[in-house]
Amino acid sequence: MDAVIVADRVSKRYEIHHNRAHALKSRVMGLFYERYRSRVEDFWALRDVSLTVGRGEAVGLVGRNGSGKSTLLKLIAGIHRPTSGQILIRRGAKVGTMIELGVGFNTELTGAENVFLNASVYGLSRRDVEAIYDRVVDYSEIGQFIDEPIKNYSSGMVMRLAFAVAAHLDPEVLLLDEIFAVGDEAFQDKCRATMQQFIAEGKTLLFVSHSAKSVQQICSRVCVLSHGQKLFDGPTDEGLDFYHALTEATP
Ligand SMILES: Nc1ncnc2c1ncn2[C@@H]1O[C@H](COP(=O)(O)OP(=O)(O)OP(=O)(O)O)[C@@H](O)[C@H]1O
Ligand SMILES: [Mg+2]
Repeated sequence: MDAVIVADRVSKRYEIHHNRAHALKSRVMGLFYERYRSRVEDFWALRDVSLTVGRGEAVGLVGRNGSGKSTLLKLIAGIHRPTSGQILIRRGAKVGTMIELGVGFNTELTGAENVFLNASVYGLSRRDVEAIYDRVVDYSEIGQFIDEPIKNYSSGMVMRLAFAVAAHLDPEVLLLDEIFAVGDEAFQDKCRATMQQFIAEGKTLLFVSHSAKSVQQICSRVCVLSHGQKLFDGPTDEGLDFYHALTEATP
């Protein structure tokens, strides 16, 4: 396999704060009583996850809320660092990401300004962005709202714009997290068609979704995460069956 993404025994630890005391009363009481003191606990969002994605593969990442899907995508995108283990991305591979709604966007700026801002985060020059700008705006179907600050957008509109930018950067690798969460049906169809075109062009896709139908349509392989661990990695149908059985077994 011609590997594009390699995650090698990756773990991620977050700190969870209990009774984080803001009120003066709690802070004073904390001087006298243990139970008023804030405690910090380690939480492992990912444990020893290894994953290799080859060029041209479309891999679905499924798992219940909190299972570590977005965390893994953020590590691969370089937004966070793993606590241990290693992430390797093929040298020079251009990675497009749409991970969390609004990441890489500034709500005070207009849609148009955000296209430039967001694309520059990926290293595009002003001229590069100008070259794709009209296509991005057309694709997003934002219309006249493109000159409004995006704080006045609906969440579906922000998502359209973010996906439009990610799709026009000509990425070799596309990391997508829950892109169907807020888009309407027509836009979802358009996103699916774009992803299928990407796959036909030999691009690499890592796709997080709670929609089994979308995963089935787009991915040839599925990884199932549960409590930060990878429990399954294989063909899509088998993976979705595994995931459904797992969900039924642990309500
Ligand atoms: N910055 C953070 N600090 C502390 N805990 C975090 C942080 N980010 C994520 N977590 C925790 O890590 C776990 C995994 O979160 P993650 O966002 O990866 O889940 P997910 O699989 O994407 O879930 P969902 O389906 O709800 O999007 C969750 O329990 C979450 O609370
Ligand atoms: Mg998530």
